[in-house]
Amino acid sequence: MKKLFSEIPYIRGSRIVLKKLTEADADALRELVSSDNVYRYLPTFLFERRYDDVGYVIERLYDECLKESIILGVFMNGTFCGLAEFYVFRDEFHKISVGYRLLERFWGMGIATETLSLMINYLYKETDTEIITASTMVENTASANVLRKNGFDLVVQGSSEDWGFEQPSTVDKWIR
Ligand SMILES: CC(C)(COP(=O)(O)OP(=O)(O)OC[C@H]1O[C@@H](n2cnc3c(N)ncnc32)[C@H](O)[C@@H]1OP(=O)(O)O)[C@@H](O)C(=O)NCCC(=O)NCCS
Repeated sequence: MKKLFSEIPYIRGSRIVLKKLTEADADALRELVSSDNVYRYLPTFLFERRYDDVGYVIERLYDECLKESIILGVFMNGTFCGLAEFYVFRDEFHKISVGYRLLERFWGMGIATETLSLMINYLYKETDTEIITASTMVENTASANVLRKNGFDLVVQGSSEDWGFEQPSTVDKWIR
């Protein structure tokens, strides 16, 4: 069994591939990070928004960012649709958190559901992961449904957390 973070995963499904971003994805990433709708229910401190220059973000994704998380591109038929993230790795507990965000024009097509299913499959079949967690803002019913459809259970409801906004965010916590 591999350890998560011992490699940058390449995960292939029937329709979706999760893989490293390259320079060629800069325009699509710029579109994603510029969307207020996409980031409405996400923490303000995600790595892809740390630097104004998305080319620089892509350069740092697989060194600086790797200290905290693995961020992969989500591609459907070769087209960039968004990001999938593995973060807060706790090796001693074999635990990892997962997240995802898609360009708005790809919402409602089952892509997040399939992406999360590929992530779970990779974690449980190819690595020594034993616990997968996720967090959603309570308003984010779409993401809650993606988690439910992938067998996550709601374990903490309405916890108050600092996600970088002026007010604390009210967050649900999920486990699988
Ligand atoms: C949340 C998000 C990833 C969902 O992606 P998606 O590919 O559209 O989701 P899916 O098509 O796989 O839909 C999964 C389920 O979510 C529900 N859903 C989808 N869009 C929804 C919406 N706008 N409102 C309520 N439920 C919704 C549906 O129940 C759907 O299942 P069904 O089609 O079988 O009914 C996407 O909307 C997104 O990128 N949002 C912005 C970023 C974000 O919030 N990320 C998650 C942070 S925790």
